[in-house]
Amino acid sequence: MTHTPTIRPISPDEFDALCEVPNQAFLHASPPEALERERITQEFDRTLAAIDDQTMVGSAGAYSFQLAVPGGSVPAAGITMVAVLPSHRRRGILTALMSRLISDAQRRSEPVAILFASEAGIYGRFGFGLASLHQKVTIRRGEGQLTVGAAADDKPGAPRLRDTEPLQVRAELATVFDAVFARQPGMLARDDRWWTYRLTDVPAMRSAGASAPRCLLAEDDDGPRGYVLYQTKGGWGPDHLAAGVLDVREMYATDPAATAALWADVLSRDLVAEVTALMRPIDDPLLTMLADPRRARPAPADGLWVRLVDLPAALTRRSYAAPADVVLEVLDPVMAGNAGRWRLRTTGSSAGGSGGTTCEPTHEPADVRLTVQALGASYLGGASFGQLAGAGHVAELSPGALAALAAAMSWERAPYSGMIF
Ligand SMILES: CC(C)(COP(=O)(O)OP(=O)(O)OC[C@H]1O[C@@H](n2cnc3c(N)ncnc32)[C@H](O)[C@@H]1OP(=O)(O)O)[C@@H](O)C(=O)NCCC(=O)NCCS
Repeated sequence: MTHTPTIRPISPDEFDALCEVPNQAFLHASPPEALERERITQEFDRTLAAIDDQTMVGSAGAYSFQLAVPGGSVPAAGITMVAVLPSHRRRGILTALMSRLISDAQRRSEPVAILFASEAGIYGRFGFGLASLHQKVTIRRGEGQLTVGAAADDKPGAPRLRDTEPLQVRAELATVFDAVFARQPGMLARDDRWWTYRLTDVPAMRSAGASAPRCLLAEDDDGPRGYVLYQTKGGWGPDHLAAGVLDVREMYATDPAATAALWADVLSRDLVAEVTALMRPIDDPLLTMLADPRRARPAPADGLWVRLVDLPAALTRRSYAAPADVVLEVLDPVMAGNAGRWRLRTTGSSAGGSGGTTCEPTHEPADVRLTVQALGASYLGGASFGQLAGAGHVAELSPGALAALAAAMSWERAPYSGMIF
């Protein structure tokens, strides 16, 4: 490229034109209703176009999210809509857009940036680490026998189930979602706009023959305890057997009895040969409840990628599972403010908040050397330090320091973000 494209935020009336860039780059065409739906959550002052010779050739944007982290939540720049026209690839346009998005996040005091990647090889170079996995599960008719473990608190009892249209129970869905959010690192808080977005059905975007979304709600006299958002598609096999599919789009529950009741219902529907769920947590209780977990045919994929934008702010705003006092030598070739030695002192206050954690620059010798990608990967509590060390992303410099850091940064449940943005 002979000159650098201009990067600037768009105005709302330029949105449809900008969407032509991701349409071409992602090899799809968004119907007008889909673009209207995107406008619900679009933040135009954070929606960027790369313009070359008056043509929009690149797009990227960010959402102002609140991300659940161990013991609390932090503001996060949710990077989205990253695309460059096929004709303009590999000239540094993504690199320029990313640099602008990250400095915007810094200016807005967002300690981390997050994203889902179309291809897992793209974002490591920008300092993102893979912080969560999710898995696809596929369970066939007759394979869904469930057992709740004997240690479960049986006080809530079995809930009542109600099958309904999602919009009819929006408030109940939000109640369940917020209760789960409070203890599930990786989730993204949903305000009214995001609920409207999530529950807006675009028939033109449904897969062929799929029903409108439905909701199965679990509740009792004290309120809602869980829900499944799902779609169905009927069909018959060449053998005349029912070949319907029930696709779970989202499922949250607050207790084991509600979890079991919801799954037991969807796994035993008439004419449904297969239940699929594209994005379940990697530690989904469903797999432990199934009499034969192999029947879930779990297929893992990369989930949320995290980039520390302001290292001390990020590290002091999560809780830690154990006390630790370690000097980290952080390698961050992109953001000089993160690079160098930091003394991280955690109190192990897993109950909530940072509980007196400090993270200060130091000249003391380092106990652990690690890349900023490794810190992003472990930020939500889900990384294996053994795996990161085996791959050369972490090195122990004083004996015992890696075990102490791993124990402090781990968390009781695997991080999970149930909605791609
Ligand atoms: C991915 C995409 C945005 C890259 O844009 P780009 O302007 O070509 O990227 P850049 O020129 O800034 O490349 C920066 C680096 O990333 C690498 N890179 C770019 N796309 C990559 C990919 N898909 N896989 C692996 N590496 C990739 C480049 O090779 C380059 O490496 P280098 O620094 O070692 O030379 C563009 O190819 C695209 O629009 N793809 C289709 C849509 C898509 O997947 N978007 C991402 C959504 S999460």
